[in-house]
Amino acid sequence: MSSSQLAMKFLSQMDMIAAGVTDMDKCIEVMSEVFILAGKGDYVMGGSTRNSHGQRIWFPPEPKFDGMPKGGPDQRFMALPGYLGGRFRVCGNKWYGSNVHNPAKHGLPRSILLMTLNDAETARPLAIMEANILSGMRTGAVVGLSAKYLARDDSETLGVIAAGPISKFSATAIIKALPSLKKVVVYDINEEAAKRFCTEIGEQLDIDVSVVNRFEDAVRGQDVITSAISGDHTPLFEDKWLKEGSLLTLPGRANVEEDYLRHAYIVPDCWEMQKTYKIEGMMLPKEERTIPHLQLHNMIDRGEIKESDIHDLGKIAAGIASIEKNSNKKRYFISNGTILQDIGWGMTMYESALQKGLGQDLVLWEKPYRI
Ligand SMILES: NC(=O)c1ccc[n+]([C@@H]2O[C@H](COP(=O)([O-])OP(=O)(O)OC[C@H]3O[C@@H](n4cnc5c(N)ncnc54)[C@H](O)[C@@H]3O)[C@@H](O)[C@H]2O)c1
Repeated sequence: MSSSQLAMKFLSQMDMIAAGVTDMDKCIEVMSEVFILAGKGDYVMGGSTRNSHGQRIWFPPEPKFDGMPKGGPDQRFMALPGYLGGRFRVCGNKWYGSNVHNPAKHGLPRSILLMTLNDAETARPLAIMEANILSGMRTGAVVGLSAKYLARDDSETLGVIAAGPISKFSATAIIKALPSLKKVVVYDINEEAAKRFCTEIGEQLDIDVSVVNRFEDAVRGQDVITSAISGDHTPLFEDKWLKEGSLLTLPGRANVEEDYLRHAYIVPDCWEMQKTYKIEGMMLPKEERTIPHLQLHNMIDRGEIKESDIHDLGKIAAGIASIEKNSNKKRYFISNGTILQDIGWGMTMYESALQKGLGQDLVLWEKPYRI
């Protein structure tokens, strides 16, 4: 590369796989590092609070123009910018679109994602990469990390609700994080998807996996429960189904009962981000507001839950906060995902690609047009 040429790497899905994007053990290790940095505060995310999940293109539910997409559950475009410190010291942006009808109607995944990394000092783009596997892996690895820090050491059973890609990544990570696990059950409204989940997970991880026909059966009495449904239904996890000491770890949406929240450890991936969701959500017309975990915010506002009792997973990972791991208190992990997780795993893939000579060089310019 000449001194004035500016080039960056393009990493396709094949390059990402060759770089090691599907290595779940490594991804959990990197997520642990990312959460410790986040727990200490060595990061900046987008928006005025520096803690925004991202900026969404929010299509109206009834568009007034021909061709404009219609808003709805899991129908969105989203940009997630951020800076991650520590040894990473890099900025990144994940840009994706989601259409819940993609698999059935177009033979495409629900969401299609791209990740960009930039040098934090010069802003020079380092890489643009395919990010479907990257994003799913980091989501699953975070769920696995929650199991590592929050599940009881004697956890033997896992209940999985929804058998889509996110649940597959999450179940893989939980099984890796909890060597004590013996049995997995899965429930999906689409029984074929649940069967495919059993075949894939059972073959890959050598564990007993079976389908259950009712949502309740994937929850009641399980030691660890994870759920990642998409679409417009939000199931209610009844408190009485959730076993003492169990972990409910949620990369997807869910309803829980107030009594559950009053008595459980509440551990978010980033509480400041949850607060920003509320600030941003309140700007939408009332009928279009979807604020994650609004019930929890309301209980805090009413003084029924102390905000000071809510500790981020990063604070627990960094040793700044703790829980009694083998107690009978229930645990509730809520993850909406942060760009910091994508940056950590993306940077790891970029470094691996450089080392292995993977990807294509994309030249932005030989000489800058103007400085
Ligand atoms: N927390 C994060 O960081 C993060 C990251 C990515 C995705 N997500 C969320 O995870 C969710 C799942 O993503 P995906 O890509 O696997 O979606 P997907 O649409 O590919 O799969 C979802 C599965 O859920 C099943 N399902 C739908 N409603 C159900 C119900 N009521 N009961 C049981 N099963 C049901 C569907 O049949 C499907 O198999 C999405 O809502 C997405 O927004 C979270």
